Amino acid sequence: MITKVRKAVFPAAGLGTRFLPATKAQPKEMLPLVDKPLIQYGVEEALHSGVPNVIIVTGRGKTAIEDHFDVSFELEQMLESRHKSDLLKIVRSVSDMLNVAYVRQKEALGLGHAVLRARELVAHEPFAVILSDDVIHAEVPAVRQLLDVYDFYGASVVALMEVPKEAISAYGVVDAEPVSHNGEKDRLFRIRNMVEKPRPEDAPSNLAIIGRYILTPEIFDSIDAVEPGAGGEIQLTDALKHLLRSRPIYGYKFEGTRYDAGDKLGFLRATVEFALRRSDLGAEFREYLKSLAL
Ligand code: UTP
Repeated sequence: MITKVRKAVFPAAGLGTRFLPATKAQPKEMLPLVDKPLIQYGVEEALHSGVPNVIIVTGRGKTAIEDHFDVSFELEQMLESRHKSDLLKIVRSVSDMLNVAYVRQKEALGLGHAVLRARELVAHEPFAVILSDDVIHAEVPAVRQLLDVYDFYGASVVALMEVPKEAISAYGVVDAEPVSHNGEKDRLFRIRNMVEKPRPEDAPSNLAIIGRYILTPEIFDSIDAVEPGAGGEIQLTDALKHLLRSRPIYGYKFEGTRYDAGDKLGFLRATVEFALRRSDLGAEFREYLKSLAL
């Protein structure tokens, strides 16, 4: 019997140094794409994928995240007294949206370390991990796509994306063999090995792991077992490599577009493309962009 995935963990305790000074006193996860904070896109992806419980791993200076998903009494009262019912609906929908728990990572010791903080709350269940600075635009939510693979094999699944050779050193890269699945031969892979941030000439493929994972609970023992790796941090990729010794791990090349919104250029790309897709802003924004003599 395959256990259903009911919980999604959002590591959000990183320092966001690539986005300084914006992230000096404000969490990266609260940067808005058009008018919605990054983390809300991730939370909505979890909910639309059928995962109802959210666990956010926070750290110092991250209270804005908790406030965002909480009831804002004064704001609601003000909007009510001014008869701003549309805005009131938007504000209420955020706090009504989810069942959320918070756990603290006291020091930013790496992504693996952040995931391990959620161990007690996840307990012995499979769970999703969503890195909210990887924003994905997709017809079927990316987590849902991974869950469809998990529901079939009952094993851990990571999201894969093809990355050009010159950019590969920024990622965890897999050595993997294709598996025929649902009539498709080039989306699902069984992972043989993985390397964190390889030099282009050492990369085993052009398939990089990006910020969506379905993990079976054995990952916690693997995180516990690994020593700090690249940058002195406890890396999730190292723990996945450790898990590979005893469990199969699949990689799925999801359908959709991923934006690295934790990086300034990636964030700008996402902002432009999300704005262009908006029914209330897109047409006017397109005209504006066209008017720029580029
Ligand atoms: P990043 O690699 O983007 O690191 O983390 P970062 O610290 O957030 O940002 P930069 O690189 O300094 O600009 C990927 C994800 O893992 C979380 C981050 O919050 C982000 O969602 N993370 C990372 C933690 O929760 N704790 C950590 O110790 C490290």
